[in-house]
Amino acid sequence: MITTNYLIIGSGVAGLTFALKMATRFPERTITIITKANADESNTKYAQGGIAIVTDKTEDSYQKHIEDTLICGDGLCDETVVKMVVTEGPKRLKELIEWGAQFDKNAKGTFDLGKEGGHSENRVVHHKDQTGHEIQRAILEQVMQKENITVLDHHFALELITQDHRCIGAYALDEKTNEVITYQSDFTLLATGGIGHLYGHTTNPIIATGDGIAMAYRANAVIQDMEFIQFHPTALFDNSSGSKFLISEAVRGFGARLRTKKGDLFMHLYDPRADLASRDIVSQSIDLELKKSGDECVYLDCTHLDMEGFKNHFPMIYKHCKKVGIDPEKEWIPVVPAQHYLCGGIVVDINGKTSIENLFACGECSRTGLHGANRLASNSLLEALVYSDKIYHYLAENPFIEPKKANVIPKWSIQSKTKIASEYIAKTKAKLQLLMRQNAGIVRFDSDLLKAKEALKNLQNEIDEKIQNHLVCTDLYELNNMIDIGNLIVQQSIDRNGNCGGFVKYESKDIKQ
Ligand code: FAD
Ligand code: SIN
Repeated sequence: MITTNYLIIGSGVAGLTFALKMATRFPERTITIITKANADESNTKYAQGGIAIVTDKTEDSYQKHIEDTLICGDGLCDETVVKMVVTEGPKRLKELIEWGAQFDKNAKGTFDLGKEGGHSENRVVHHKDQTGHEIQRAILEQVMQKENITVLDHHFALELITQDHRCIGAYALDEKTNEVITYQSDFTLLATGGIGHLYGHTTNPIIATGDGIAMAYRANAVIQDMEFIQFHPTALFDNSSGSKFLISEAVRGFGARLRTKKGDLFMHLYDPRADLASRDIVSQSIDLELKKSGDECVYLDCTHLDMEGFKNHFPMIYKHCKKVGIDPEKEWIPVVPAQHYLCGGIVVDINGKTSIENLFACGECSRTGLHGANRLASNSLLEALVYSDKIYHYLAENPFIEPKKANVIPKWSIQSKTKIASEYIAKTKAKLQLLMRQNAGIVRFDSDLLKAKEALKNLQNEIDEKIQNHLVCTDLYELNNMIDIGNLIVQQSIDRNGNCGGFVKYESKDIKQ
């Protein structure tokens, strides 16, 4: 058994930022980060557009950023949280810069601010089109220099350990030795990111399987707003299943326009903000256009843009398009909506505390109340930065209190030596992904959701049996977690009455959309 003061599960922006702050302030305390892939693998690494922060108050203001966030969340944001997060932004940006992250500047020497859907002003601070990679690099470099932080990569968290509704650590699989290790901690932070691979067609990397939310759910934490799945309007269209390359919304902020296959502009028919309407509206409009036309994708037209400026702001997107045989200067880029982000998750209070004692959650796996029914573009990195700071301050001021009764932690109990067949995992995962795409996508129907609920129950029974009778392995537990997340999304979609933001549900398929 390994004991540590702070156990952090996940090494994206949320987990790393909290670790760095805690380690700097308390060099005598131990911090253990377990992460299931390489330490730099995360949704964070792929973030393109940037971080929404009010840095120039001549045109912009906190009030405008607050209003944009509230409008985007369609009446379901927590206004106190929105105000807190928006106004903390500049301090968190200053810190990132102190840690070595670089952001693009213009000829005047001020930040080059991008624009994205739902923003009334240019306010997105960025590093070319690789903002996440730059942030991850800078924070990870700092983390690696701290002697009191241990980073254990290729360690997969299996279950939280709770006693009397208090979290005292977690079990994790060391993938190099195949051993299950027990971690006992004073405080545990879930920073496990998103759920994209439940849908298959997603902008997320393969690590995004909802593990932290599923573990918290099984430990009886409160989970909310799972029906608010955000679909990004412009993932690069291809016929493969799996992760999709993102064409950042900032490309539309730079002037690109969406067209149908015939060449018609259409976004002005749906929203006065046209191509820069919020993400929920653009995805729903594309979905409708594709249903009307029967086409496989719509197109992003960049041909009229200043190409030198485009290549300078979006070098990775330009290079990727060229690599797959599309020249943005001459051709339209084929795009489709794909799962991108989860607005809901583990419910936390303003200090990042979950409903389980000594368990905190931060970043995409948490539900803070910032996003409501639809997240405003580039508010996610901001949320993770602000909440990791809030948790740090809370824990700095509220030290660990030894429980009256000493913990007796049972050893991991599943001992089977039979390996699960990889074909079974692949087949079941594909079935689950199709089930979610067909029944819990951009537009949902009551009858489909009820059908999906039944199918998920059968899958759950099947996987419970497999878990009891097979050797512990990451793939099997990820599948189990994805089924739990599927259940939560479907049940909370059934329970929600009234469409708002990214949630659209009809009673009957006869209704004309
Ligand atoms: P992540 O960065 O996803 O980190 C999760 C970590 O948990 C990973 O290290 C993972 O390996 C680990 N983990 C998961 N499960 C386990 C387990 N069982 N055991 C051990 N470790 C585990 N947001 C913006 O604000 N601006 C943008 O421009 C932007 N662009 C985006 C572009 C793309 C392509 C994508 C996919 C997302 C984008 N987002 C953007 C969203 C944003 O990047 C994420 O929401 C945010 O980075 C999440 O950070 P996180 O730390 O919560 O999770
Ligand atoms: C993008 O660059 O389009 C993604 C931004 C985000 O998810 O906030």
